[in-house]
This record gives sequence, C-alpha cells and structure tokens, in this order.
Amino acid sequence: MVCLGNICRSPLADGLLLRKIKERKLNASVDSAGTANYHIGKAPDSRMIKTAAKHGTPLDFLRARQFTATDFLHFDHILVMDQSNFNNVISLARNDEERNKVNLLLDFLHPNQQLEVPDPYYGTQQDFEAVYHLLDQATDALIQKLLHEQ
Ligand code: 4NP
Repeated sequence: MVCLGNICRSPLADGLLLRKIKERKLNASVDSAGTANYHIGKAPDSRMIKTAAKHGTPLDFLRARQFTATDFLHFDHILVMDQSNFNNVISLARNDEERNKVNLLLDFLHPNQQLEVPDPYYGTQQDFEAVYHLLDQATDALIQKLLHEQ
C-alpha cells in the first residue's frame, strides 16, 4: 500500500488489510510505504489512528518508510492511492513485470474509472471518516480478489 507520506492513507489501508487477513486466516502479508521521505520513522497521523481505532482497526504500531525499488521484488501487488503515487512508483520500475504489479487500489472497487483516494492530510475529521469507509470497502474488494488467487 503506497501513498505520499505513509502517515494517513497507506497505513490505514495496511492496518485494515492486516486485520482482515488475520480475521480470515489468509496466507498473505502486507506492508505500506510513502513515495516521499518527509515522515520516515513516524507513527501514522494521530487523526488517522483515532479514526481507525474507533472502528476497531489498530494502526499505532506502524512506522512510516519510503518506497524503494527493492519493494518490487518482495510484493506481488503494489497498490497506490492516487495518480501521482502511481507515476512516482512506476518511475522506479525496471521492467514490465514490475510495472504490471502497480495498480490504483480503488480499481478493485470501481474498475476502469481511475478513482483516487483523497488525501485527508489538510482536511477535516469528516474527511478522515470518509477515507476510512472508502478504504474499508476497497480492502474488502481486494480480499475477494486475493481469495480467488489462492
Ligand atoms: P498520506 O498524506 O500521503 O496519505 O500519508 C500526507 C501526509 C503528509 C503530507 C502529505 C500527504 N505532507 O505533505 O507532509
């Protein structure tokens, strides 16, 4: 799961998917990263932690890191939150196999519409809530895809 800062959207997607993988006892691992280096080592944004905790999804144990080209070797799917993340990640891919791993996360929920997860960083509590519900739905759709792959 990749966003810009790795403190709002991608840690939430990471925590949601991790919780769902555990609940369903699936054989899958998940991680998140940011394309930028602004927040390396930091916990997720406190507003995101509080919003997710309210809905039963712990995020406080996560720490931000930057996406690197090595991630293409360790993961089958690289899911990005917006078009800018997509372009930044694709610019690090070295071949078609790596490029083909990269998709907008919301493509699993709304195929072929190129929808983006809005960045709540400069937004209100309502924006954080909206991102929670969007990513909750998107990770449910992703779980369905993973189940069909196994
Ligand atoms: P994220 O949100 O990409 O969802 O983690 C942001 C967090 C921090 C900044 C931008 C977006 N920032 O500019 O510091």
